Amino acid sequence: MAENAYEKMVIQWFPGHMTKAQRMIEENMKMVDGVCEILDARIPLSSRNPDIDRLAGEKPRLVILNRTDLADPAITARWREYFRKKGFAVLETDAKTGKGVNNFVPAVRSVLKEKIAAYEAKGLVNRPLRIMILGIPNVGKSTFINKVAGRKAAIAGDKPGVTRGKQWINIDKGLDLLDTPGILWPKFDSQEVGEALALTNAIKADVLDKETLAANFMLRLRALKPEAIEQRYKFTPDPEKNGFELLEDAAKKRGFLVSRGEYDIERMANVLLSEYHDGKLGRISLEAPPEE
Ligand code: G4P
Repeated sequence: MAENAYEKMVIQWFPGHMTKAQRMIEENMKMVDGVCEILDARIPLSSRNPDIDRLAGEKPRLVILNRTDLADPAITARWREYFRKKGFAVLETDAKTGKGVNNFVPAVRSVLKEKIAAYEAKGLVNRPLRIMILGIPNVGKSTFINKVAGRKAAIAGDKPGVTRGKQWINIDKGLDLLDTPGILWPKFDSQEVGEALALTNAIKADVLDKETLAANFMLRLRALKPEAIEQRYKFTPDPEKNGFELLEDAAKKRGFLVSRGEYDIERMANVLLSEYHDGKLGRISLEAPPEE
C-alpha cells in the first residue's frame, strides 16, 4: 500500500468514527448480558478490533468465525482452539447459506448459563437475554442477524461511514440482539492488516493501489498455497519472481494481451481479486493463529 494511501485511510477513519463508536459501545454495554464478536475466518486478527477486550470487560463472550466457506478448514479449527483458550465460546458459520447459524442460540444459552441461573434465582424467569453484536463493516453482521432471526430483520449492505441508529432485534427464543451500536473500525496498524482487509472486502480495494494489492497477494499465495496458483492460473510460481511478474505470468496464461508482447496487468489484478472474493481459488485463510 502506498504510504499516502495508508495515511489517507487512517485520517479518514480515525479518531472521529472510532471515538464515537467506542462511546456508543460503552454506553450500551451496561444493558447487555454478553458480547458476540463476528470475525472473518480468513483474517481473525485483522478483522478484530483489539479495543473490544477492554470495552467488553468481564462480559461473557462469543466469537463467530464467519465466511468459513472461504477459509481453510484446518486453519479455522486452529482459530477455534485459539479463541476457546481465551475463554470465549466459538461458533463457525457461513452466514450466506446459514450453515452453523442454528448453533447460535444454544451457544448463547451455554455461555450465559450463570446469568440465566442468577435471573431465575431472582424470579426473573422470562427476562430476555441481551447480546451485543459487534464486527467491522462488511464482515456479515446483517446477513448473520437475518439468518438467526429467520426473517429480514436487519438491513444488509451497511455502507462504511454511515451511522445507524440503535437496533434491538428480537429473536424468538427469549433473546434480543443489539446490532452494532456504532461503526466499528478495524485497527490499521500495518500495511499487511490494510491489505488483508482490502482482500476480504472489509475496506474498498480502491483505497489502495489495486495492482500493488494484487501483486502482494500473489506473493502471499505463493507462500501459503502455491497449488492454488497452479490450479487456477496454470503455472508454477517462480520463487525468484516478484508479485508483478507473477501477475504478468497469470495474464499471459489468460491471454490478457494489450499490445504485442505486453500483458494487461491491471485486468489480471482485478480478476485475481474478484476470484479470491468469489472463492474460485479455493478456501484460503490469510492468517493462522500464532504457534504455541
Ligand atoms: P455487514 O452487515 O457486516 O456490513 O455485512 P453484510 O451482512 O452486509 O455482508 C457483506 C457481504 O458478505 C454480503 O455480500 C454477504 O452476502 C456476504 N457474506 C456474509 N456472510 C458470508 C459468509 O459466511 N460467506 C460468504 N461467502 N459471504 C458472506 P454482498 O452484499 O453480495 O457483498 P459481497 O459478497 O460483494 O462482498
